[in-house]
Amino acid sequence: MRIGILGSGLLGGKLGTLFARAGHEVVFSYARSQEALKRLARNAGANAQAGTPAEAARHAQALILAVHWSRLADVLGQAGDISGNVIVNCSLTMNADNTELAIAHTSSGLEALAKIVTKARVVAAFNTVPSEVLFGVYERRRRANRPSLVYCGDDKRGKALAATLIRDVGFNPVDAGPARIARYIELFALLVAQLAYEGKGGPELAYRFERFGK
Ligand SMILES: NC(=O)c1ccc[n+]([C@@H]2O[C@H](COP(=O)([O-])OP(=O)(O)OC[C@H]3O[C@@H](n4cnc5c(N)ncnc54)[C@H](OP(=O)(O)O)[C@@H]3O)[C@@H](O)[C@H]2O)c1
Repeated sequence: MRIGILGSGLLGGKLGTLFARAGHEVVFSYARSQEALKRLARNAGANAQAGTPAEAARHAQALILAVHWSRLADVLGQAGDISGNVIVNCSLTMNADNTELAIAHTSSGLEALAKIVTKARVVAAFNTVPSEVLFGVYERRRRANRPSLVYCGDDKRGKALAATLIRDVGFNPVDAGPARIARYIELFALLVAQLAYEGKGGPELAYRFERFGK
């Protein structure tokens, strides 16, 4: 697949690197430094390149949205026409000072995004996983007991594609249901982030949390 990364920071940078290593063509975009994007692409290998959001969106089968919620309008504006594209939303609707979700309970980031990009196919995935665990999970992908990762959405094609990408980076995809389930998943993701970044040994604990019930 050709995958455009919109937001090549902690999460987008690592996901793009792993997609490239898994054999997909990746375009990293949206960082404040073009040099950082080029460095990311070099480290990710021959399948990766750096570009603008519009270049990332062009011919992409999937767009990975991994920006702070406050950057949403800017990155989408730069991406241009994304009609028909699958957008995998990894972003959480954090407010400006990252203390709480700006949208929650009665709606979700995924549902809000669907209203903004009405002609794209939106799905939520990767927003519950601390980026720190991604490389370790990928390295252990050939083991039978993979950690689970939830995704949700209303678009069938988008969901099938998200499940493939989740599998490709070493997780077992779990379909959590329609888009409105994002209301609960995004709250859950905030809890995981709390565990990951505010507790001792957080990412390991969050990683175990992903495997709860196995
Ligand atoms: N990190 C995680 O483990 C994790 C886990 C689950 C969900 N999420 C969600 O994923 C989203 C991204 O998180 P993150 O941790 O990856 O954030 P991040 O490291 O800050 O990445 C965001 C990207 O946006 C770029 N950016 C910000 N302002 C910009 C501007 N004015 N112009 C151009 N580029 C700009 C950043 O560029 P620079 O690199 O130059 O700063 C960076 O590449 C958030 O919504 C977060 O809640 C993250």
